[in-house]
Amino acid sequence: MPRFVRHVFVCENRRPPGHPKGCCAEKGAEAVRAAFKDELARRGLAGTIRANSAGCLDACEQGVSVVVYPEQVWYGGVTVADVAEIVEEHLVNGRPVGRLRRFVTGSA
Ligand code: FES
Repeated sequence: MPRFVRHVFVCENRRPPGHPKGCCAEKGAEAVRAAFKDELARRGLAGTIRANSAGCLDACEQGVSVVVYPEQVWYGGVTVADVAEIVEEHLVNGRPVGRLRRFVTGSA
């Protein structure tokens, strides 16, 4: 049995102030990852779903960028206020949150 069934990768990349690409850290990524960790722990899911810090996911303009594996669902513009909904709808009920999804293709 795998240790974790899902990983929630949150880009926490930080660039110098004024960098043309910006970065997820300046948009609150650290607080977003902390909120995922807290919400997963609160629901008793921390042993099966892991919220990981990620480097740049190459979707900087979409930040805060989040990708959930193994299903490869990308989210953009994620804030702390969105975390409980992503956990409830996607990670618990299997319904990705459409309004936050990015890079949706075909049957995904
Ligand atoms: S800085 Fe977050 S995706 Fe590039």
